[in-house]
Amino acid sequence: MPNFYERFVFPGLSRLDPEKAHDWVSSTAERVAHVPFFSLAASLVWGKRKSAILGSHVLGMNFENPIGLAAGFDKNARLLNFLPHLGFGFIEAGTVTLKPQSGNPKPRLFRIPEFEALVNRMGFNGEGAERVARRLAKVQASSIPRGINLGINAGTSPEEAPSRYAETFKILEPYGNYFAVNVSSPNTTGLRDLQERRSLEKILIALQAENKNKKPILIKISPDLEEKSLEPLCEVALKLASGVIATNTTLQRPGLPPEVPELSGGLSGAPLRCISTQIIAKIYRMTQGQLPIIGVGGVFSGADAFEKIRAGASLVQIYTALVYRGPGVVREILSDLEELLKSNGFENLSSAIGTAA
Ligand SMILES: Cc1cc2nc3c(=O)[nH]c(=O)nc-3n(C[C@H](O)[C@H](O)[C@H](O)COP(=O)(O)O)c2cc1C
Repeated sequence: MPNFYERFVFPGLSRLDPEKAHDWVSSTAERVAHVPFFSLAASLVWGKRKSAILGSHVLGMNFENPIGLAAGFDKNARLLNFLPHLGFGFIEAGTVTLKPQSGNPKPRLFRIPEFEALVNRMGFNGEGAERVARRLAKVQASSIPRGINLGINAGTSPEEAPSRYAETFKILEPYGNYFAVNVSSPNTTGLRDLQERRSLEKILIALQAENKNKKPILIKISPDLEEKSLEPLCEVALKLASGVIATNTTLQRPGLPPEVPELSGGLSGAPLRCISTQIIAKIYRMTQGQLPIIGVGGVFSGADAFEKIRAGASLVQIYTALVYRGPGVVREILSDLEELLKSNGFENLSSAIGTAA
């Protein structure tokens, strides 16, 4: 049955241009986070789900629950006082680049509601690392783990990439519990080539040289990687990173009929689900479960999250589901996931990881 958001809020928002709707939602959320009693009201509506079965210890951190917000929703870390109230177990801000940039020309975000999908070619629009760091310095200490996703500015050459990632990391390091190296956005020319072994090694070596506090650094990968590229990537990750985030958006158009306009950009949402789950299972098998995986792509329900966990994900992120189902989706996913874990005989989340890989 459609929830309140799907019945009354989404139809209104969907009359707006998708990026304008996102900006309106973000600025409203930023404002209400400062309203007295907001946190009390939010916990009544979206309520944090405390359940021992959903908690876990991953990447050296405690997670109350495994559902996080994926990168791209809060690119400039403006919503960090608001988002934890939606019941997320963790939040990933960014992608943040070293210098500010405006991204690709608009329009650059498109809805495909019949398929619960989005296509975006935002191109790392953002305020840049210094400004985001100044904002982060003022944000309350986070009650849940916070990740920061790092990118590079358009036009950065492959030779410059390692030092640019490292400089961005150095500026933001005090404010994140973990960091994601984004080498998988399809909207920055040449970025995905950095997933190749030598390039990735150089980037991670540069990052780890700055990583004095040994914070977890994960690699966010593309769902369009071929199997032969996945193996060297896993080797590099095992050697130089703490985990993998799988996956970013896809350039494939799985299951979409030809009459759907051929929009250029990365596809997210329901059509991405299987592709990303398959990649998660492959990585889990290739690394024999030794590498923590954050699973992301097309998760809308507890069953989808359960599928990612059974494929090998220790944690799960969502983005597109939040657009189509609204903030209540986090609580729905968590309550269904808890039921699924129990009904399948798992005593805790960790014991379900990789059981279908
Ligand atoms: C509008 C939009 C912007 C995004 N921006 C970023 C980004 O800046 N960095 C990043 O790593 N991923 C970005 N993503 C990808 C998401 O983090 C996620 O990997 C992808 O959407 C798949 O998850 P989903 O199907 O739950 O949306 C973006 C996705 C969308 C829809």
